[in-house]
Formats: sequence, structure tokens, C-alpha cells
Amino acid sequence: MSVLHLPRRGVRRLALLTTLAATALLGALAAPSSPATALDNGVARTPPMGWNDWNSFGCNVSESLVKQMADAIVSKGLAAAGYQYVVVDDCWFNPTRDSAGNLQGNSSRFPSGMKALGDYLHGKGLKFGIYMTPYKTCAQGTGAYSGTTGSSGHEQQDARQFAAWGVDYLKYDWCSGSGTVNDQISVFGKMRDALAASGRQIVFSINPNSFHSITGPSRNWGDVSNQWRTTEDITTSWDTNHANSYPMGIRNIVAVNAPLAGNAGPGHFNDPDMLEVGNGGLTDTEQRSHFAMWAMMAAPLIMGNDVRSASSATLSILTNKDLIAIDQDALALQGTQIVDDGTRRVLTKKLSNGDVAVALFNGGGSTTTVSTTASAAGLAGTTFSLKDVWTGAVTSTAGSISASVPAHGTVVYRVTRLGSQPPSTPPTTTPPPSTTTPPPSTTTPPPSTTTPPTGAGCTAAFSAPNPWPGGFVGNVTVTANRAITGWQVTLVLPSGAAATTAWSATLSGSTGTVIATNVSYDGTLAAGQSTTFGFQGTGSPTGITATCTA
Ligand code: GLA
Repeated sequence: MSVLHLPRRGVRRLALLTTLAATALLGALAAPSSPATALDNGVARTPPMGWNDWNSFGCNVSESLVKQMADAIVSKGLAAAGYQYVVVDDCWFNPTRDSAGNLQGNSSRFPSGMKALGDYLHGKGLKFGIYMTPYKTCAQGTGAYSGTTGSSGHEQQDARQFAAWGVDYLKYDWCSGSGTVNDQISVFGKMRDALAASGRQIVFSINPNSFHSITGPSRNWGDVSNQWRTTEDITTSWDTNHANSYPMGIRNIVAVNAPLAGNAGPGHFNDPDMLEVGNGGLTDTEQRSHFAMWAMMAAPLIMGNDVRSASSATLSILTNKDLIAIDQDALALQGTQIVDDGTRRVLTKKLSNGDVAVALFNGGGSTTTVSTTASAAGLAGTTFSLKDVWTGAVTSTAGSISASVPAHGTVVYRVTRLGSQPPSTPPTTTPPPSTTTPPPSTTTPPPSTTTPPTGAGCTAAFSAPNPWPGGFVGNVTVTANRAITGWQVTLVLPSGAAATTAWSATLSGSTGTVIATNVSYDGTLAAGQSTTFGFQGTGSPTGITATCTA
């Protein structure tokens, strides 16, 4: 990390202190909101993949650096693996606009100009990303770079300028201690609309957290952007002991981002920040965990290392085909967390061919067994193959999915159901033989098929496999008895228990009788198919009942 990060820590603390009132206000907004209408600008249907200079070079960006990196991204096979967007972060611009108010590239750092850089990247089959903020950029905010170039009040002009330069991706960073969440929605929304009016399809990536109380995980920003940062900045560390303040380790980011699966989908993704693979500070096991969990969480995969000097170990992580396929799967679902005992986590991600990816994550400091089952992962059946994405080994199982996972490790299996599929209609039972001749009927016979009564369409099974004192993660598997196009589960919680953040379902209420409703992607189930949702619980799970209606 650049030394330019150092002064930012102090600035951030100050910014946080000056926004304590705003923080208190935002505390009330801490739970993810119900899904908003997602931005549909035609891009980022799967999480964007690319490279950004910031994690390795800080403010020291230049045309020659970016071109060399683009060359290396192509020559080392990273472009072929899917990495496309080359994003120029902070410090690329002249500290002042020109006399017509236009942004300009810093002419000593980018002597050929930004349009020429875009042409160079496009000529290599890559895409061009750039960075801006509404007010001061973060480097301007810390004094590491001079001027105030922000786009507030210039949104249309800047969006047209970006489009003219061939920009395909805009990272738009808050970098201010002021503003309520509604101010952020409005200010980010202006740039979203300006990009839409620019005539060019541009991925819109926002960070609402910089210098600010953290609003990234507290609402679903899919109405505003294609991807939004959920945490403060990442660093090359496994665990900084920060819940969500600068800087964040891998384990800390996973803890924030994993429960937010319900907010992600095609065109709109939680962004747990750029990759630190290849940047030192993490063991090989930790770097693999980092990459595996980002893929499971359908995170944008934006490399942050010096690709020119990447080792073969680094390249083998960054080009792991099975994990990239999991990240880039066409369903574009973020894996849902079905186990979280504070140390062990299990994430399951439905894939478009019917497979499910399962991650067994060990956040703790010693080897431990992490387990789940195919049924808890949402797969019906009796035999499954498990492909270990790191070793390529394929084994089979009757349902148990379990591994001894080293400290800070993550085992990922791609799970495929083997054998015949479940019947598409419920089994029919033969009626008992009749012993009497029925009297001739004088009335119209009832229709031969009857609509199953409400409630018979699905069955719910509740479990809370690893409760801890005062809390638990609740899992509910919904199984369709016939083809259904939506379901509701009524959870009855005894007093003292509460259901909070849910994933893959929307909850109404948190205590007593709580209704869980399917989210857009998991309501349609064929007969015999299952889906799973989960929630965080406080109190004890004992005595909780779940009833499904469809
Ligand atoms: C913020 C962002 C970083 C980077 C810097 C640039 O801290 O979170 O990713 O863009 O600003 O100053």
C-alpha cells in the first residue's frame, strides 16, 4: 500500500468524529432495505472483472504505468481469463478544470490524453475505467493531491466527456464526511442519470463509505448503481479487528458482505472492494480464501496487484477457471450464507446449470471441520459429485458435504446432482378398492383434478444447526409439493427470540409471528425442488416453527 494511505487514517477518524450525529441517524437504517427497482443499464449482467491501480500504486498513476499493465493483462492470459476493465483511480486529472469547465487529464502524467488511453485499451480488447467523485477526490480530501475537481454541478458535462474519451466504467467515490443517506441517493443518482444520457453504456460503481459513516451495507444501492462498496477500504491483512472502519481485513469484509446476498443480482452487485491477491501480507491460503469468497459472493473481481511482476502462484489464483465460472455464472446470484458460527461459514451459490457451489470457510486460527449437506444447499437427490475447485479432485457423496479446513482456509466444491431428477408431479396414490357400487349420480361430477388447498403447495423445514449463547442462524428449506410461483413461510418465534437480517427472503416483523416471502429469483420451484433462506436470530431457536403456504 502506498504511504499516501497513512495520512488518510487520521483524516478518516476526524471525519468520523465530525459525523457522529449522522452516524446515529443512520444507525436506524442499519438493516438492508427491501429490494429496490434495480438499475437496468444493460451492463454488468455478471460482476465486472478487471484491474485498478490504487491498491498497489496509490496516487502514483500514469499513462505509461496503465499501458504497461494493460500489456501484461493481455500477455499473461488475464484478459483471456475474463479481466477486462482497466480502471484508472484517483490522481489522473489536472487539479483544475479548463476555462469551459471541462475535466482534463493531468498532462504530465497522461501526456497523450485520456482519449488516447481509451483507444489504446480498446485496441487491446480491454475496456477503460476512470475515477471521479462529486466533491473533492479522496486524495484531494487528504491533501495528497491538490484542487477540487468533483463532478457535482458538472454531471452532464463530465458524463459526456467520459463518453467522448471512450470510458466504459466510472468509479464514483463519496469522499466526504457530510451528507445524509438521502443526499447520497440524490447526488449519486444525478451521475447515474447523466451517464444514462451520455449515449454510452458505462458501468456505474459507487463507494458511499469513504470519509463517511458507512452506508454501503445499510441499504440496497441497486437502484442507483451497478455495484456499491459495502465496507471501508481493504488492506493486505486477514483480520484487522475492524467491524467496518479503515482498514479492513479479508475476514472482516466477509463478515459484512456475506449476509447481504439478497441485494445482489444481474446488473447490481455488492462490492467488497478490490483484490489484494499478489500484494503480500496474506499467506497463500489466505489469498485463496479471499479469491474464493469473492467469487462465491458474486463480487466484482478487480485485481489490485502489479500484474507485470505477478508470480505464477498469484496468476494461478487469479485465473482459477472454476472460481471465475462461479463468480461469472449467468444467474448472477450472490451465495447465501447458511452457516455462521462466528468462525465457520458456509455459503451456497445456485448456478445456471442446476449445480450449486458450496464454500466451507474457516475464519479461525486452527484447522476445523466445516460441514453442511446437499439438502441444506438446496439440492434434492441421493447422490452428488463434489468437485474441489482448488485441487480438481472429484468425489461423490450421498449428501454430506464436509471438509477439514486449515486456519483461514476456504474449500469450495461445485456440487452436481447425479442420477434422475425428482418427479415433476407429486406421486399419486391408488384409491382403496370400492366394496359398494356407488349410486348413480344425478349431479355434475366434480372436476377430476382439484386445486390443492392453500398451504399444500410447499413444506418448510426449519433448522438452526449451530446456535451460540444469545444467538443463532436460522435456515429454512422450502420444498415445493407441486409447481409453485411464489411462497410464504410463517415463522412463529417464542418470546425472547427475534429474526433479524434475512437472506434469500424478505421478512415482515422480527418477533412473534414473522412472515418470510420469497425474493424475485427463488419463488418459482418445480415439484420436488427446494430452496433455502436464512436469517440471523437473537435469543434461542428452540421452539421456532415454520409453515409454508403457496
Ligand atoms: C477511497 C476508495 C479507494 C480509492 C481511494 C482513492 O479510499 O475507497 O478505493 O479509490 O479513495 O483516493
